[in-house]
Amino acid sequence: METRLVKICSVNDLPRNGGKGFQVGSLELGLFQVDGKIYATCDICSHEHEYLSDGWMEGDCVECPRHGARFSLKTGEALSLPATQPIETFQVERQGDDVLVAIPVKYLQAEGA
Ligand code: FES
Repeated sequence: METRLVKICSVNDLPRNGGKGFQVGSLELGLFQVDGKIYATCDICSHEHEYLSDGWMEGDCVECPRHGARFSLKTGEALSLPATQPIETFQVERQGDDVLVAIPVKYLQAEGA
């Protein structure tokens, strides 16, 4: 899948152990910082339309704030019901304080970017 490395924010913009949502083209992107490591996923739960960055962190998992499904931030795997489908994950690269994410171009093209 073709991707483009996009600068999303500074690491200082992220909560220390928590998530934050960003709009990147047509993608709702969630960035999650856990013990200094940063994970990037689709910010929308695979069960219904809910923002995972508003959820709760449990190690390298996030719990959806609406019905409590848990997802692995590493793999996107749905770890508990009611979600059964994974969420998309994206590769993260640090350049100094900058956080860059490999965004599939389909999300950038949808906005004409
Ligand atoms: S919307 Fe996330 S578990 Fe239902």
